[in-house]
Amino acid sequence: MRSRTLKRGPAIATPREIFEHLDRYVIGQERAKRAIAIAAHSHLRRIQARQEGRAGLLRKSNVLMVGPTGCGKTHLARTLASFLELPFVVVDATEYTEAGYYGKDVEVMVAELLFAASQSIQETEKGIIFVDEIDKIARRSHGARTGAGSRDIGGEGVQQGMLKLLEGREVFVPLNVTQHWNKHDFVQVDTKDILFICAGTFSDLSLYGTTARSMGFAAADREHEPARRTTTKDLLDYGMIAELLGRLPVVVELGELGPDELLRIMTEPPDSLLREYKELLALDGVELHVTQGALQEVVAYSLARRAGARGLRGIIEEVCHDLLFEAPERSGTRVVIDVATVRGKLAALDGIDLER
Ligand SMILES: Nc1ncnc2c1ncn2[C@@H]1O[C@H](COP(=O)(O)OP(=O)(O)OP(=O)(O)O)[C@@H](O)[C@H]1O
Ligand SMILES: [Mg+2]
Repeated sequence: MRSRTLKRGPAIATPREIFEHLDRYVIGQERAKRAIAIAAHSHLRRIQARQEGRAGLLRKSNVLMVGPTGCGKTHLARTLASFLELPFVVVDATEYTEAGYYGKDVEVMVAELLFAASQSIQETEKGIIFVDEIDKIARRSHGARTGAGSRDIGGEGVQQGMLKLLEGREVFVPLNVTQHWNKHDFVQVDTKDILFICAGTFSDLSLYGTTARSMGFAAADREHEPARRTTTKDLLDYGMIAELLGRLPVVVELGELGPDELLRIMTEPPDSLLREYKELLALDGVELHVTQGALQEVVAYSLARRAGARGLRGIIEEVCHDLLFEAPERSGTRVVIDVATVRGKLAALDGIDLER
């Protein structure tokens, strides 16, 4: 084989640069951040190749994220999109149905991206569509005893419909999703370089625990595999169709967040909850100090309620409720929130015993 000189194109963000940005905002989930950084870098390379008129060989690096609720799947995708400054939308797979049935056609996903790109087709064609709840459109052949007939218009039908978007065909999409449209409002969008990041909890897959036994696998099947890697077979058994999985070459797993990570989530990211509340109160002239013990208490409470990272905001909100109300009157003071404060506020809430 003749070797070609590998000329690097103009600078685009490297996987490391993308990772480092994600790392500031997304705590833990190291593997996922690396995988996303690589996929995003390839995405930029593809766009670049297209702009330079080269037909790239690069495969579309569509991503499938698997992880429990509140572990940062949507957060990761959002952080990525804002860093790359590309049009980005989050769509919910459960809102779509097979074409011709009541519900949205999959083309509407692209229409929403077009809307996010201020109707610029050129920008839309570089964008990222985040398809949430992808596990909810699993094939329902096993459980279809509802008498609704054998048509699976919201499951397999939608997966089928998505294939053309994932592999990059040209589709006609309504120019304005919010309007009642007629034929004249349709535009053609090439989905070849639109990056799809699909995400789901696949909650029955039992990947987050220690066992895949509930799936009925022979233990030997998994012996030489790392404990928590999702296999294609797992996903097929779950009800995802092979053609769809084949077009989602990057499978990324996110784990449940532990206490240390929850603690860091509250304090470390540039947009962390603690910074936000400090800033908010500072505007009223109140200096907020939250002790380490108080933060641990908040984490323990969130874990006890299995609320994960998503629960932290509500808890902080509750703890700071009175303070926020009184802040303007307490201007010029320093307020300390310690373990006792947190326990007091939360005990009133629902009396979960955090000491256990
Ligand atoms: N790893 C993380 N690092 C920093 N913040 C996080 C992380 N995970 C979650 N969060 C925070 O918790 C919120 C909820 O997380 P997110 O929406 O990403 O969950 P999810 O994995 O998409 O869950 P679901 O499956 O329910 O949609 C985020 O908005 C973010 O503020
Ligand atoms: Mg989400």
